[in-house]
Formats: sequence, structure tokens, C-alpha cells
Amino acid sequence: MKIIVKDGQQDFDHAAAMEIVQLINKKPNAVIGLATGHTPKGMYKVLGEMCKNNEVDFSNVITFNLDEYLGIKSDHPGSCKSYLQERFYDLVNLKQQNIYHLNSQPEDYEEECHRYNRLIQQIGGIDLLILGIGHNGHLGFNEPNTSFKTEVHVCQLTDRTRTANIWSFGCKEDVPTEGITMGIKNIMGCKKLMLLANGEAKADIVKRALKGVVTEELPASVLQLHNDVVIILDKEANELV
Ligand code: F6R
Repeated sequence: MKIIVKDGQQDFDHAAAMEIVQLINKKPNAVIGLATGHTPKGMYKVLGEMCKNNEVDFSNVITFNLDEYLGIKSDHPGSCKSYLQERFYDLVNLKQQNIYHLNSQPEDYEEECHRYNRLIQQIGGIDLLILGIGHNGHLGFNEPNTSFKTEVHVCQLTDRTRTANIWSFGCKEDVPTEGITMGIKNIMGCKKLMLLANGEAKADIVKRALKGVVTEELPASVLQLHNDVVIILDKEANELV
């Protein structure tokens, strides 16, 4: 596990962006998994700027979004798709046909899970998955006590997660109660993982996840079992080194 600690938002965002740029330089058709949330916003912005300046080329890159809310339209302003559309897809030269998304309104939930699992497998797996961490240690929408054996699945969002995401819906009542997410097995199947965390409020959970006991009660602790993980923190989130 490689741990990088940066001082300040700009350096943090840049370090995260550079992991992606380096991968694409080595493998122009890399498959990248995308998280949403507050933490990677700056990284996406840096990637947009670098793409505009021809410093990185996404034209052969393939992306899979990590998770999505259920029961809202895909173009709802709070959806993960809208977030990525506005903050990433619109800023880079990804090809539309290379962008894969979980459907927020599938007719058949189970079939949607199978479809996404199949797609990930058919494409040959994910080279790099970007992850944030919830205050309760969730990864994607894998809340505490999710089995490490899960693949793409439908999940109930905890009260804490819904509260943390009011910012993208306006009020708690509007935050969906269910999501669909890559499971821990999908996450662990990715060739490389990059976990981003910033701010003092994340320091304790990051430490417990990465230095504590590996347990399904704290989903992010599973990262200790992956052989290629880079953790990018800012000074405030770092109690590790
Ligand atoms: C979002 C996601 C979540 C977030 C996590 C941290 O796609 O998968 O697991 O990464 O909730 O969110 P922020 O960055 O808002 O603290």
C-alpha cells in the first residue's frame, strides 16, 4: 500500500489526477472506475484542464461509474451520472460509447446488476478504480456489514450516508433510500485502487480502515487485502504516517 500525503487542496487534487494521467500514458485504452462525492471534485477539474491543454487524452479510455442512486431519473441533478456529466465527461474527450453507467431506474434490479457485472467482465476488468470513503467506512454504496463476496448489488443507504449526501439533493427527504453499487468483490477485482480522503473529519475512519482489523463492519478495511492500492490524503486526513 502506497500512502501519499499532500499539503493543501491543489496538491491533493493534482496528485490524484496524476495517477490517472500516468496510467493513461502507459495504457491509452485504460478502464477506469469513477466515484462521485465531494472528495474527487478537484481531481476531475484538474483532469478537465489537462485534457483541454492536450496533456492527457481520454479518447480511448473506458469508464464505469461506481455507484448510483435508485429511483431517480438518470438526469436528476443529484444522480451520480449528472455529477460525472457536469464535472468530468463534459470536460474531457471521452467517447460516448466508452462511458458505462449503472441505470438508476432499471425495470429489473437483478438483471441490471447482472448486466453491469457482465460488462465489467467482458471489457476485461477495471485497471484503476477511484474511491472515496464514507464517515462510516463505506466504499461505493457498500455500507457496513456488506459481505466482501458481493458483486454489483442493490443496497439500502444508511441514515448517515443519506445525511452526508443532502448537498446533492437539497433535503434529506429527497435523498434516495436505495442505491446500486459495484460490490466489494468487484472492487477487489480491480487491478489497482486509489482511495482519496481529505479533511480532518476523515482522519479517524481512514486510520481505522487501513490500520485496524479487517472486517465487514468497516468495508474500507478490505483495502488492506488488495496488493495494489494508492491512498492519497491531505495533511488533515492523515493519522497514518
Ligand atoms: C460516491 C461514493 C461514496 C463516496 C463517499 C465519500 O460515488 O461511492 O462512497 O466516495 O461517500 O464521499 P465524499 O467524498 O462526499 O466525502
